[in-house]
Amino acid sequence: MPLDALVFDAYGTLFDVHAVIDRCEKFWPGKGAQLSQLWRAKQLEYSWLRTLMSHYQPFSAVTREALGYACEALGLALEAKRAKALMDEYLNLAPYPDVPDALDKLKGGGRKLAILTNGSPDMIETLVKNRGLQSSFDAVLSVDGLKVFKPAPRVYQLAVDTLRVPAANIGFVSSNCWDALGAKAFGFNVYWINRGGAPVDRLGFQPDGMLQGLGDLPERIAR
Ligand code: LAC
Repeated sequence: MPLDALVFDAYGTLFDVHAVIDRCEKFWPGKGAQLSQLWRAKQLEYSWLRTLMSHYQPFSAVTREALGYACEALGLALEAKRAKALMDEYLNLAPYPDVPDALDKLKGGGRKLAILTNGSPDMIETLVKNRGLQSSFDAVLSVDGLKVFKPAPRVYQLAVDTLRVPAANIGFVSSNCWDALGAKAFGFNVYWINRGGAPVDRLGFQPDGMLQGLGDLPERIAR
């Protein structure tokens, strides 16, 4: 099947969510990595719980609540100034080093490139702009209009409807295994970017391809 579109997850796939560790470490020496891990874990957990509860909040609000929880759980006082500085980090997260070059190689030949993210437009559009990646994508799609988070199938359908490419001709790329398998369950061709060498989540689906980094994708797609 030719892949007429490639759709990328954003946080953790294109942009390193743990780039916040440095700032966390400056504020609370020795706690940076732990805070970053818990912050991210709660951010995802809250997104799933809110979807199940039918109580959607934009990902920016979910991310802020998760930060508050993580700090309280670790006994770290989160003053308003620090909270703002950490939330601002999300608007400027570094892309993984192999991302810009891989996107350049993947673009062209009539293939569409898009982001499909849980991130609310205020977060993701600013981040893509701040990192100078606007021209790499034909579309930046957010769940925000649907008011549910991935891995709800309606979210993946948004890419099909907006890009006007059937699911069978879309390649979906995520480093979040739960997202990769959600996309596979929906019907996409899925490439899981498994930078950490983790096992596949046991949800009854397997990704079509597993890569160590985004830099390996252009060659894999060309085959
Ligand atoms: C995203 C998060 C879930 O970008 O990584 O959708």
